[in-house]
Amino acid sequence: MNLTLHVWRQKNASDKGKMVRYDAKDINPEMSFLEMLDVVNEGLITRGEDPIAFEHDCREGICGSCGFVISGVAHGPQPGTTVCQLHMRHFNDGDVLYLEPWRAKAFPVIKDLVVDRSAFDRIIAAGGYVSVSTGSAPDGNAILVPKIAADQSMDAAACIGCGACVASCPNASASLFTGAKISHLGLLPQGQPERLSRAEAMVSQMNEELFGGCTNIGECEAVCPKGIRLEVIARMNRDFIKASFTAREEVVDLS
Ligand code: SF4
Ligand code: FES
Repeated sequence: MNLTLHVWRQKNASDKGKMVRYDAKDINPEMSFLEMLDVVNEGLITRGEDPIAFEHDCREGICGSCGFVISGVAHGPQPGTTVCQLHMRHFNDGDVLYLEPWRAKAFPVIKDLVVDRSAFDRIIAAGGYVSVSTGSAPDGNAILVPKIAADQSMDAAACIGCGACVASCPNASASLFTGAKISHLGLLPQGQPERLSRAEAMVSQMNEELFGGCTNIGECEAVCPKGIRLEVIARMNRDFIKASFTAREEVVDLS
């Protein structure tokens, strides 16, 4: 199959950037989208041109490294799929595709389709640690975890930190990501000691990183390759409000 690609090319963070047209010829429909870009890049390298920069690592949909916008949709048209797992058979011969990096103030472009997502790392770091008793390894069943809590926690832990939720939100909000990170610890008994302070610290960091607020658009949930649900945002907001009230009560107690 043959495709026409319009790709965002930007040399570095200060470069203005522009769309550049490329022909992707003789593409095998069984290739992944990234393998198709590999073929285009091989042609560029052979001609002595700068290859298109894009991020990837596992190419199995589990690391969260890859991700860009394909014709207006984060990770492309296939629901629940990262670009590394998106195959060319989902496109048609002759398609014209537009590839752009995640667009958000908190995710500055490094080069072409690669953005700096270290703001996500700083949100996770703000969450701190989980209290554990030191000593010998605890018995696996010493703290019973209700099945429903284990399932919900596991669902939230599926977030791979790709950033598609931010890129597709008109407010560039990181609420789905942060809600997932807060939920996967906050739902477990082991995550209770720092639950509220963790929510407060992570939400504060999210706000400092220039992400916008959530206005219940829901586009984040629609594009999330890991099926993270909007409920995690509700849980984040609940814990954040509880943390604010708890802090206020402590102030009252002291006076
Ligand atoms: S919530 Fe979904 S879209 Fe957002 S970073 Fe996590 S996996 Fe990616
Ligand atoms: S490269 Fe790891 S999720 Fe796509």
